[in-house]
Amino acid sequence: MSNSPIKKCLFPAAGYGTRFLPVTKATPKEMLPVLTKPLIQYGVEEAVEAGITTMAIVTGRGKRAIEDHFDISYELEHQIKGTSKEPLLAEIRSLITQCTFSYTRQVEMKGLGHAILTGETLIGNEPFAVILADDLCDNGEHGILTQMVELYKKYNCSIVAIEEVPKEETFKYGVIDGKEIEEGLFQITDMVEKPDPKDAPSNLAIIGRYILTPDIFDILRETKPGKGGEIQITDALLTQAREGKVLAYKFTGRRFDCGSVDGFVAATNYFYQKSKEH
Ligand code: G1P
Repeated sequence: MSNSPIKKCLFPAAGYGTRFLPVTKATPKEMLPVLTKPLIQYGVEEAVEAGITTMAIVTGRGKRAIEDHFDISYELEHQIKGTSKEPLLAEIRSLITQCTFSYTRQVEMKGLGHAILTGETLIGNEPFAVILADDLCDNGEHGILTQMVELYKKYNCSIVAIEEVPKEETFKYGVIDGKEIEEGLFQITDMVEKPDPKDAPSNLAIIGRYILTPDIFDILRETKPGKGGEIQITDALLTQAREGKVLAYKFTGRRFDCGSVDGFVAATNYFYQKSKEH
């Protein structure tokens, strides 16, 4: 058993992935491969590295391939047993052995905050991690979530990962303001979802890694639709920051925005180069 205080990781995975049409017409965007692994598998591996083995996945219509991926395919296993192809399934098989996967469906798309609230039934009353699989991270020695779990052990409060982005790109992200309490660690004083660069409180953008304390669910239930008419986790976290404490952590490592074609291609090139170096 790991001694991580965080046992469960939530993956909001109900979105349509319209930026990748037509491929996302019948294929979940979380299943798009960077080299030979789907995006969501990278996320699950990051969670496992952080000592988490319960994966809670919020899916929607047309996402069955995710469930099939994290399951045994007897026919396929039988077919490749004893051949040179067998090792190709080793990584996914080891995840299936180590982890439990549970699923719930988000019936209506009402935003990331709503997706996280939908996952409450799988999480219950305990702190949990959230990974947005579109944000693909590579961190050498310690994954972002591992770094964040270490911080959680010290501070016991919600933590979001942040990265400096060019000011003109703040409209794509939740953006924070805060006071630096340790190098690279900020106590949040303000957060805005996808502000215009002229209204952005800083260029510190939230990326898709969160550790949340379970009181966030009650806050989300009371959170009114915000930017784009959607229930935003950023707004709920601002409430939590005002009532108590929320931290923002400037992680070390690289992040690719695989929700965009440019980021996806950059990630593919990066992981391809890396695979050649080994
Ligand atoms: C979501 C969040 C946003 C965050 C981003 C990170 O936006 O709402 O605050 O900065 O993820 O990837 P989305 O990219 O889902 O529109």
